[in-house]
Amino acid sequence: MSAPQGSHGSPDPAAHSWPAAQDWDEWHRAGRACVAPFREREWFIQNFAPSPQLAAADLGCGTGQWTRQLTRWGMQATGYDFSREALRQARAAGAHPRLCFAFWDVNSTRPPDTLQPRSVDLVTCRWSLAYFNLTRLLATVTWILKPHGTLYILTPLHAPGRDPLDRGLTQAQIAQLMTGWQSSRTRDFHRTVRGLVLRGYASTAERTP
Ligand SMILES: C[S@@+](CC[C@H](N)C(=O)[O-])C[C@H]1O[C@@H](n2cnc3c(N)ncnc32)[C@H](O)[C@@H]1O
Repeated sequence: MSAPQGSHGSPDPAAHSWPAAQDWDEWHRAGRACVAPFREREWFIQNFAPSPQLAAADLGCGTGQWTRQLTRWGMQATGYDFSREALRQARAAGAHPRLCFAFWDVNSTRPPDTLQPRSVDLVTCRWSLAYFNLTRLLATVTWILKPHGTLYILTPLHAPGRDPLDRGLTQAQIAQLMTGWQSSRTRDFHRTVRGLVLRGYASTAERTP
């Protein structure tokens, strides 16, 4: 199995409207990030059962509240983001032996060396998946996840085209996302916000970016 490659993977017609890291720097300076509400945390625990010794990668971690929550549940968690300001705030919130933050532009560079093939039990994309090239992201996730690993997503549902910093996934993208997993659970927290827990990528055809 080869690593997802360093160039942009499959073309995405919406790519031109993806916000740049500098846009996210400003967004984070304005202090927009929020803590995961109780009902989301409760649903996540019911469907994933976090425990010590499990390793997690939080993609598009922002200022790291969710990454930090994963360590509170005992996990070893690394948050990845391409906003230097988000990473600065995430680190400034305090160190923890099981917590780490690292720079990674998920859309345009190879996974960092900390992410080896089949090394991670859980990948999370909370309010971030709509900014990633979905085909490429799925190839990366299924490459770094252990065989029975889990992908957790929380995402708005709406077509691109509004404010570039307010993006969601379309129903077609949700369908693409859910294909090939051994089990999938979904929950709508609001009419336009969906949670997904996808476990055990099982497709016989390896995904390639
Ligand atoms: C709406 S914020 C969500 C932050 C956090 N996950 C949360 O739950 O609060 C989206 C985050 O995705 C990050 N992001 C967007 N595109 C990215 C990319 N290509 N590579 C890495 N991070 C990206 C942004 O910098 C931002 O921190």
